[in-house]
Amino acid sequence: MDALAAFQALATPEGRANPYPYYEALRGHGNLVPVKDGTFVAVGYRECAQVLRDPRLQVQDGTAFDRVYPRWREHSSVRAFTNSMLYTNPPRHGRQRGTMNTEFTPQQVARLTPVIVETISSLFDRVAELGRDGSPVDLMAEFATRLPIAVVSALLGFDGDRVTWFRDLATSIAVATDGFTNPPGLAEADAAMDELAGYFVDLVSRKRGCPAGDLVSGLVGLHDTSPEELSYDELLGNMMLLLTAGFETTAFLVGDGALLALSRPEYARRLADDESFVDGYVEEVARFEPPVHVTSRWAARDVTIAGVDVPAGARVVVVLAAGNRDPGQFGSPNVFDPERAEGQPLSFGGGVHFCLGAALARLEVRTALPLLVRRFPGIALGGVAGYRDRWVIRGLRTLPVVVGARR
Ligand code: HEM
Repeated sequence: MDALAAFQALATPEGRANPYPYYEALRGHGNLVPVKDGTFVAVGYRECAQVLRDPRLQVQDGTAFDRVYPRWREHSSVRAFTNSMLYTNPPRHGRQRGTMNTEFTPQQVARLTPVIVETISSLFDRVAELGRDGSPVDLMAEFATRLPIAVVSALLGFDGDRVTWFRDLATSIAVATDGFTNPPGLAEADAAMDELAGYFVDLVSRKRGCPAGDLVSGLVGLHDTSPEELSYDELLGNMMLLLTAGFETTAFLVGDGALLALSRPEYARRLADDESFVDGYVEEVARFEPPVHVTSRWAARDVTIAGVDVPAGARVVVVLAAGNRDPGQFGSPNVFDPERAEGQPLSFGGGVHFCLGAALARLEVRTALPLLVRRFPGIALGGVAGYRDRWVIRGLRTLPVVVGARR
């Protein structure tokens, strides 16, 4: 298969259903492949890492959007993202990220441990209740998508009783990160963004009057004392980024981690009984089924990566999921092996945009999976697990399970 056909196949239902054979077809042409004028695809581990770390290759910001879709300002969802750190390049990025780092600290993450444990426990009570008569329960709907949104709400200081409302709005808004290929989805994202923005504005003024120990209180304080460090639009943009970036991604890692645990009784047993097994298992789930399959960068000037000339203005599609299965980095890469120790997967990105929430995501998944198999020792697949029909952020749509009696 030629490189362009393999790349284009990734946008088809077959490609979205199983993109891995197309990643291999691309790899057959090299680790950084020119697929058409102005578009390159990185599928090698080193090449992906190099692209993410090279300051000449930048994330899409407002200037890049102007080139591909000059009407982006008409979309409130896209506007909000362009004020956040993930859609900002140095030096603006460094300033925003530095400000966020002063509030999104290891202490803030540690503070969430009891919230995570309590949330898991109450969600499992519901799963147990729903599955008591032996009927299948959808672990994605009832657990995996509910946990991260509750945790991120606690982190930010959102109202705890609105968790499913945030989840539904965040699901609609996530479409805005898919490029400009889905106009009805984008209209829905804008409507959700407008609804959420109303809530954010109200929340910011409440936190200003009555600060608590949460992230939004800290950021409001920072904005009020040093607006040049964090503008009001950047404050709102980053609140929205944190809500969406930490939601589906974490839900999908929980879902795939659970599905793989159900595939071999040994994994479930070791997750339940062997603490030393858990971290490696979660890292391997992230390598094998990364929630973020792909990101991209734009060449701000001419650059040569791994011997390939990338001209200024070209787009480099960085396929993290393909880099994670590069046989040059990981032996037998298509085998799931929780015992491997061959370096960090690319699942949380790299360079200046390395995932701000990686420690939190790992904490959630490392806590959730052992508790799942301890609470439901008889848990088994209760139907067909299905992936969502999307490429960029990929994960399970449904995971039906039957749960056994409480241990
Ligand atoms: C950035 C993955 C969870 C917040 C990223 C990037 C990746 C990623 C690949 C880099 C994107 C790029 O360079 O283009 C994941 C995965 C997660 C996860 C797989 C869960 C399993 C979280 C959580 C939060 C979070 C829980 C926060 C609550 C962020 C932020 C950025 C980011 C703010 C942008 C950082 C910057 O631009 O400097 N994430 N993420 N993520 N992530 Fe995560």
